[in-house]
Amino acid sequence: MRVSEDILSRQRTHFIALILLSLPAFVGCQGDRVQSSLHPAGPAAESVATLWWVMLLVLGLYVAAVFVLAGIAVFRRSDNGLHKDHGMHKPSSGSRFILMGGVIFPAMILVPMLAYTVHTTSSLRMKETGIRIRVVGHRWWWNVEYPDHGVETANEMLIPVGEPVELQLESADVIHSFWVPQLHGKMDMVPGKVTRFWLQADRAGIYRGQCAEYCGMQHAHMAFVVKAVSPAEFVSWLNDSADRSFSPVATRVGLPSGYSLFFKHGCAVCHRIQGTEAQGQAGPDLTLLSSRSTLAAGTLENTPENLLRWLEDPQHIKPGVNMPTTDASRRELKAIATYLLQMGESAVLPGEPSVSGDDRER
Ligand code: CUA
Repeated sequence: MRVSEDILSRQRTHFIALILLSLPAFVGCQGDRVQSSLHPAGPAAESVATLWWVMLLVLGLYVAAVFVLAGIAVFRRSDNGLHKDHGMHKPSSGSRFILMGGVIFPAMILVPMLAYTVHTTSSLRMKETGIRIRVVGHRWWWNVEYPDHGVETANEMLIPVGEPVELQLESADVIHSFWVPQLHGKMDMVPGKVTRFWLQADRAGIYRGQCAEYCGMQHAHMAFVVKAVSPAEFVSWLNDSADRSFSPVATRVGLPSGYSLFFKHGCAVCHRIQGTEAQGQAGPDLTLLSSRSTLAAGTLENTPENLLRWLEDPQHIKPGVNMPTTDASRRELKAIATYLLQMGESAVLPGEPSVSGDDRER
């Protein structure tokens, strides 16, 4: 008798502890809107968010019902009941309860939920769009190309507000997953396969995205941004970017230009710069680097100081990355950084190169 009472009181304590322990999980529901799929900014993300709320409501009610039944079982059962129960219920009523509660009732909930999920997923697949963007995932950065306009960039893309955009996803190495939670659902990038889907932003803004499939050491540093701008701004950006071509620029007297140092130290083997002989394909296209907001796929803010830090020791900032450390001096790296950042202007640089306005060597 004593033992049964102990078991009962332990079960009740466990039941209460389980409910109390689950409460802190709700703290995670509060947060900012960056990268939040619960704050959609376009129709594709909207339908994903609606699916989530419907699922939360239906399954939340279901879980609550299960907890209520479990609570009744734990709290109403008396010690005597433990022994008497065997004789009190006919076996047939028990099996009917299991059939109804364990098979028929769950099926009535889960089958419509499955149909709704499949419907939502298929509606995200394809749509007629005017703009096509090809995104290729690499360890650990994103190549972004507007194939119909001859524009290539990396880790950042512009889209026009209010228009659906077709994305063609590919991978150059392992499986990555393209995800901008505020604009669409997650989509895998599988080597050897082209995945097509669409997204749309209804509000102008900057939306952060992140690789959502573990792809190696720097998976966490594989972020990107989508900038949604007005259609007019988008068209003018596309035209400017397509026309951009750069001539080698002179830097300080006595020092080779950043352009020639870019070749001397092997940068051109991996990187492409439109309008120059640098046509490497292994690393990000640097033509539009000056206009990007981050470096190393969202790892650093794009400032002259950070670019210099990155060039000096990429392995320190992003261990395992394919970018090697060069034997260029700090002064040479400054010239390269100056070249890369100022080349965004389609004019020849003015004479004095200075990464931070300070030419003294440290
Ligand atoms: Cu790419 Cu994780």
